[in-house]
Amino acid sequence: MGDNALMSDVLELVDVSVVRDGRALVDQVSWSVAEGERWVILGPNGAGKTTLLNVASSYLFPTTGTVSILGDKLGGVDVFDLRPRIGMAGAAMAEKMPRRQTVLETVLTAAYGMTATWHEGYEQVDEDRARAFLDRLGMNDFLDRKFGTLSEGERKRTLIARAMMSDPELLLLDEPAAGLDLGGREDLVRRLGRLARDPIAPSMIMVTHHVEEIAPGFTHVLMIRQGKVVAAGPLELELTSRNLSLCFGLPLVVERRGDRYTAAGLPLS
Ligand SMILES: Nc1ncnc2c1ncn2[C@@H]1O[C@H](COP(=O)(O)OP(=O)(O)OP(=O)(O)O)[C@@H](O)[C@H]1O
Ligand SMILES: [Mg+2]
Repeated sequence: MGDNALMSDVLELVDVSVVRDGRALVDQVSWSVAEGERWVILGPNGAGKTTLLNVASSYLFPTTGTVSILGDKLGGVDVFDLRPRIGMAGAAMAEKMPRRQTVLETVLTAAYGMTATWHEGYEQVDEDRARAFLDRLGMNDFLDRKFGTLSEGERKRTLIARAMMSDPELLLLDEPAAGLDLGGREDLVRRLGRLARDPIAPSMIMVTHHVEEIAPGFTHVLMIRQGKVVAAGPLELELTSRNLSLCFGLPLVVERRGDRYTAAGLPLS
């Protein structure tokens, strides 16, 4: 347990900045995520979303400020103990995956904290888990396909299954729906919604550019622009036209229909 961390805090950032070449990519961000919350991070290209996820996953130390992850203060804990407790799926991960490895192997290797296969020593129980996660993501028919031959959507679903493999307490998803067609997006939103509403699923943080990709079951939103927090809090309070317009820097109208959101620019008059 970190000194300042509350028992229920999955993530706590206090005055966190990441400075590169004299520029703050993340600028004095204070943010906490409590157990059971599912957060969406919204913001334009270059706002610092991926940088923030890299801090949250313990792969990037901030220049200033303090970070507690799953009750441990960054700097006071061995990150190699912390990292298996965090699942991460994003574009950077996709690039690290050997293209000739099968889908099943790609997920299975996560159990051993590796990106490449090691043919000895897989337990049947691990393989069963890998198959179950792939099934949950609709990847049953692709188990023996080479990762490199998958479509964008199939790759994303494989990497989410992979991120689940270590049974993480915190799941970080960087633009999981980017590059998917409308059907693929809706399918993923439905699956993420199921996960988000599952009380025993890990705490979740998902980065996206589009409010249409927010799955039912997500509870909170963090909006950032140029590294700074524009708004943070429960979706129903903070996901407003005003906040979204400030965040993306143009007049936008956000509408809620049932448990989904849409946003568009103001019609030209
Ligand atoms: N190591 C680095 N050195 C200098 N600048 C960097 C470094 N890493 C990222 N940046 C810059 O920091 C800013 C934020 O990058 P980041 O990848 O976090 O943005 P993002 O919100 O994820 O954007 P996108 O929506 O396009 O993925 C960008 O302007 C990027 O060019
Ligand atoms: Mg990014």
